[in-house]
Amino acid sequence: MDKKLYEAMNAQVTKELFSAYLYLSMAAYFEQKALGGMAGWMKVQAKEEVEHGMKFFNYINDRGDAVKLGAFETPKSDFKSIKEVFQQSLKHEQGVTASINKIYDIALKVNDHAAVAFLQWFVNEQVEEEKNVNDILAKLEYVKEDSAAILMLDRALGERKED
Ligand code: FEO
Repeated sequence: MDKKLYEAMNAQVTKELFSAYLYLSMAAYFEQKALGGMAGWMKVQAKEEVEHGMKFFNYINDRGDAVKLGAFETPKSDFKSIKEVFQQSLKHEQGVTASINKIYDIALKVNDHAAVAFLQWFVNEQVEEEKNVNDILAKLEYVKEDSAAILMLDRALGERKED
């Protein structure tokens, strides 16, 4: 692959795997609050992020390049509220979207049609990723500080299954 495209894709492997790490940190926060449903939602999200990382990992290998994993920073763990966790999640996903778009732009620029086709899945996936978190944030606005409603939302989020 083109050097710049390879470097961006290789960095994305670590970014996706770090996403899993961050969501596990969020799951740990919810476990501490006895919100098992929200913790479960985050664990499913973490698994999906590992799958995203592996898609890049395998694609780089398929193209004959070598994956080089980077280091993780310590994920945030001192959240102030349920809402803050999902706000941080949205912020994180917006950053991932920007990163995917950047890689897509490089692939277009170097006329790598195969990479463009591969990346299309991620472009679509990011719409879904941001929508999922935005929906939860909207529900949290209805719920506010109502404990019963928070527990109902926790139960609903706990029903999330792996794709
Ligand atoms: Fe892999 Fe949440 O984007």
